[in-house]
Amino acid sequence: MIDFKNTVVVGAQFGDEGKAKITDLLATYADFIIRFQGGSNAGHTVVNDGIKYAFHLIPSGILYENKICMIGSGCVIKPDDLQKEISDIIAQGISKEHFEKCLKISPLAHITMKYHTDIDGANETNLGKSKIGTTKKGIGPTYTDKYARRGIRVEDLFNTKTLSKKLDDILPIKNKELEFVYNLKPYSKEEILAECEKYKEILAPYVDFNWQENLLNIRNNKKILFEGAQGVMLDIDYGTYPYVTSSNPIAGGASIGASMGVKAIDRAVGVFKAYMTRVGEGAFVTELTDETGEALRNIGGEFGVTTGRPRRCGWFDAVSAKYSCLVGGITEIAITKLDVLDSFDEIKVATAYKNKLTGEIIKQYPTNVLTHEEFEPVYETFKGWKTDTTKCKNYSELPQNAKDYLRALENMLQTKIAIVSVGPDRNQTIFV
Ligand code: GDP
Ligand code: IMO
Ligand code: MG
Repeated sequence: MIDFKNTVVVGAQFGDEGKAKITDLLATYADFIIRFQGGSNAGHTVVNDGIKYAFHLIPSGILYENKICMIGSGCVIKPDDLQKEISDIIAQGISKEHFEKCLKISPLAHITMKYHTDIDGANETNLGKSKIGTTKKGIGPTYTDKYARRGIRVEDLFNTKTLSKKLDDILPIKNKELEFVYNLKPYSKEEILAECEKYKEILAPYVDFNWQENLLNIRNNKKILFEGAQGVMLDIDYGTYPYVTSSNPIAGGASIGASMGVKAIDRAVGVFKAYMTRVGEGAFVTELTDETGEALRNIGGEFGVTTGRPRRCGWFDAVSAKYSCLVGGITEIAITKLDVLDSFDEIKVATAYKNKLTGEIIKQYPTNVLTHEEFEPVYETFKGWKTDTTKCKNYSELPQNAKDYLRALENMLQTKIAIVSVGPDRNQTIFV
């Protein structure tokens, strides 16, 4: 049993680091698990007793009997996607009653409307070669409307009078945008009201209208796990802008999107893969487009959970990782998928970038990512361990070369490695 303190789990690279596995694992020690940002753009895999579950918006702690899981105020919800996600998990043997008992939704979360997904798709098409490579789940347009103060929140679905007034203000603007910017079909108020009625029915069993009292009790008396989606390098403020998502996956995002302020958080575990992957467009200095990248993809099973897209693969980038620890507010590290490197002769880590034109060596992460094509990685090479690590239960059982690799990462990032993951299952985990 570990001494559990309220913990945020964040992805520290470009998403898909194996956060869900770490969240599911740490959830053993928590009473309450809350997602604080993002929407169904996330694809989170949990393997429990050999059964694989895919979550998108539902917190990865939902498989436990008596823990409350909440979709927090910082999230965006596409109700029909959520309905499908719930029914897919019910089909895997989790009961409907379990969801009704354990799943809660903040009334302040924003709704992804049909026009948001329309716009996400059209925007990507318009951008052509400069597209972001979004998941087309309407995430960017939903957060855009939230910050432009014309969003629809969960609570709006439950008040016909104020919803009608809001739509009178919002819909003419959205329709102009749909028609004149994107050449898309506008919506009538009746259509949208009918959709909202459907959304209300889907969400009604889960919306927690007593959230203020409940969260106060939870903050004062319970152990809390904050679950992040995406990753620090996809953060709207600190990621590889503009090739980012539209929310704040950094640990600080939890202080906004979980409705419990900053003092509820004690520590932040940043999850890094032992190498690196990315889906979608944008800079990736250590990307490998050769057979080594192909080997990482095949051995690591690197295909997106949400979109099925092959993930771009590359070596661990310590330049961006050090930056990620700083801006992500990471206090401890979890390294996942160490086992994927088991068969490699050599493993590389980028310790600096070199400007291909001037030869200049850069150690501080360059935040204008449109300049990244000017850089090539400067690598430090480590000897592979050529040993199966998937059955290692303790740090001491790891091969010496693997320990050397982990210690080197720890030194480069100046942050302690607390967890090492050597396989997708709950029990393939080493607490350091
Ligand atoms: P998330 O979005 O960060 O939760 O990660 P994803 O679920 O999108 O992708 C991580 C993938 O790696 C999933 O298929 C996990 O089951 C798998 N995984 C997690 N940890 C490990 C590990 O230590 N080793 C291996 N081989 N697979 C892992
Ligand atoms: P999890 O939680 C990996 C990427 C998309 C795209 C960019 C913007 O599983 O780690 P969006 O649809 O959010 O507007 O897309 O962000 N992206 C992810 N990449 N894992 C994710 O989630 C992602 N969620 C979004 O591919 O590049
Ligand atoms: Mg994922």
